[in-house]
Amino acid sequence: MPRLERISRPALWVIVGLLWSASLLVAAKNSTQARDAEYAPADIAYGARLYDAQCTTCHGANGDGVAGVDLRSGRFRNAVTDQDLTRVITTGIQGTGMLAFKFDSSEIAGIIAYLRNMNAFDRRSMKAGDAGRGRTVFEGKGDCARCHRVDAQGARVAPNLSDIGATRSAGMLLRSLTDPTSQMMPINRPVRAVTRDGKVINGRRLNEDTYTVQLFDDQEKLLSLTKADLREYTILTVSPMPSYKDRLTQDELADVVAYLLSLKGR
Ligand code: HEC
Ligand code: HEC
Repeated sequence: MPRLERISRPALWVIVGLLWSASLLVAAKNSTQARDAEYAPADIAYGARLYDAQCTTCHGANGDGVAGVDLRSGRFRNAVTDQDLTRVITTGIQGTGMLAFKFDSSEIAGIIAYLRNMNAFDRRSMKAGDAGRGRTVFEGKGDCARCHRVDAQGARVAPNLSDIGATRSAGMLLRSLTDPTSQMMPINRPVRAVTRDGKVINGRRLNEDTYTVQLFDDQEKLLSLTKADLREYTILTVSPMPSYKDRLTQDELADVVAYLLSLKGR
């Protein structure tokens, strides 16, 4: 290995050492990020409520109601990963009392987050939101209907939230409220277009291909624009939705999340 010989031994060890510590840092960062993202407190709280309503009859409040199963221990006979747990819960365990549960993705995210944290979870810290109060905030103080639609009520300039509770986890919903930009979906991006004759169009992108873009403008009109006719076309990277981090109290945020989770479409 002629190339290596030119680097002195001590220098080589310094390089190896630097690479090693860098890889440790990356690994440490990745693992905390993964965990934070996986089990948001809002998901754990939602899962606790689902568990109380649907699992305690057999598994008990402490997770040790079924002989040989200890849900709190974090070790499962039939599951290692979260995917395994999802399978056990949604397909059941044949020939046993463990039946298949029909849960949507928000509910699954909650149940898994709760099972993974049953041991450490402090119920007194749980913010159990109230969907009824959340609806009042949605329609009143939060002024959400100015942009969002639920069933037949509200505006169309922002995504329709009628079934948002079936597709987004509690943690994602809370993040949408406190840091909307962090949760922007590429397809919902707000866009600004200026036509050749100077007309400015602000809207929300619904669909786009190489030559055209379809959007809802801020008058709630569905438009299809030909890109060749535009002088300017910008996709905004900051959400037009205001952050509610300081506009609503912690309790109000929990209530709004509970209301959003109750919107399961029909
Ligand atoms: C009607 C009774 C019943 C209900 C309700 C029930 N379970 Fe179970 N569950 C069982 C039984 C019995 C087993 C053990 C099956 C076996 O023998 O492997 C089990 C096993 C499990 C396991 C696998 C444990 C392991 O060690 O691998 C998980 C996870 C689990 N249940 C989660 C849940 C969740 C979450 C709920 C609520 C959504 C729930 N169960 C509701 C009866 C029930
Ligand atoms: C000024 C308009 C506006 C207001 C007011 C507003 N939003 Fe939004 N919201 C948006 C837009 C636009 C998006 C689409 C994503 C983006 O661009 O941030 C969005 C995204 C969301 C999402 C994520 C949707 C998804 O598909 O994941 C949720 C949840 C949400 N808003 C809830 C609310 C609630 C609850 C309120 C009131 C407390 C509210 N919004 C107030 C404009 C608004």
